[in-house]
Amino acid sequence: MIKAGFIGWRGMVGSILMERMLAEKDFKGFEPVFASTSQMGQKGPDVGIDIPPVKDAHDLDFLSQMDIIVTCQGSGYTKEVYPKLRNSGWKGYWIDASSALRMEDSSIIVLDPVNRKVIDQGLSSGIKDFIGGNCTVSLMLMAIGGLFEHQLIEWMTSMTYQAASGAGAKNMRELVAQMSSIGDSARELMGDPVSAITLVDRCVLETMQSDDFPTENFLAPVAGSLIPWIDSPMESGQTREEWKGFAETNKILQTEPPVPIDGICVRIGAMRCHSQAMTIKLKKDIALDDITGIIQNSNQWVKVVPNDREQTLKCLSPAAVTGTLTVPVGRIRKLNIGPRYLSLFTVGDQLLWGAAEPVRRIFNIIVDRLKG
Ligand code: HSE
Repeated sequence: MIKAGFIGWRGMVGSILMERMLAEKDFKGFEPVFASTSQMGQKGPDVGIDIPPVKDAHDLDFLSQMDIIVTCQGSGYTKEVYPKLRNSGWKGYWIDASSALRMEDSSIIVLDPVNRKVIDQGLSSGIKDFIGGNCTVSLMLMAIGGLFEHQLIEWMTSMTYQAASGAGAKNMRELVAQMSSIGDSARELMGDPVSAITLVDRCVLETMQSDDFPTENFLAPVAGSLIPWIDSPMESGQTREEWKGFAETNKILQTEPPVPIDGICVRIGAMRCHSQAMTIKLKKDIALDDITGIIQNSNQWVKVVPNDREQTLKCLSPAAVTGTLTVPVGRIRKLNIGPRYLSLFTVGDQLLWGAAEPVRRIFNIIVDRLKG
């Protein structure tokens, strides 16, 4: 029986992964073993079958008995444990939601609806490390992978509107705390229908700028504001999140020569859906109907939204998409700059296609392969 070890299944991405695996009845055909960095010996999660007590996620003897390890524990754990495990001679499959091994030559970034060929070639050539991509990149590729596949993109910019969940569970809580704080401070004025809006506005601003406003995690207001900076600075002037757009997209697709991609990544007050506005220079002038056809047919989750107000408001927002695997693409039009300039907008659940779903799917691909 194939043995699969799961680490980090209690965290945000890990628990979404468990939810999705249960919903898809994935817990069959292998023996799941759960491990933890802090709760060994306790009872594991309810996955509908008998499982042993939780193991120690640092125990190399235990880890080396696994055929597959799936970790959502984060980069720190990977950096600490992975080299020791490989150095001990372990030859199993390492599936990782964190970024630690993403850019290594020995790994493949997984997004099988988009790069299944790359994955299959990697499996055949003996690659053993399969890593989930950056959420913004994965969601962009789920949306417009078809345009890359048809080699229509000369260059692209992506202006992002990224949700709190991308920064972590604590940030999601802090966003809600910021919203509450603003709502609480303005409640009295809002209760008076004739209060001047300038007073409401000043009250909101004073709350956001006060020392008591909760900004421990974001370091600035996001509710009622935004933060045009995500992750660490790079020499180029990009943030690391912006750098990943080019580096990871081209690695996922193994494009040669690489497609130039850049943009500005912005944190906004959405809970768990990232949105992105794309400007694309096409390699040739092709009709809008052909473009929407290519986008719509590239995978079963992408959904072209007609460029009208009603459908846009109904389908193309974090509020509409959260908790679903649908990746809507709308506002598709040629820019008045010229016929080869395309503009579009897309939204996707950062915890599903942006994190847990590609990991769940590569796990199943590998289990099927091991079962022969
Ligand atoms: N780095 C992303 C963000 C999330 O901060 O939104 C993970 O890919």
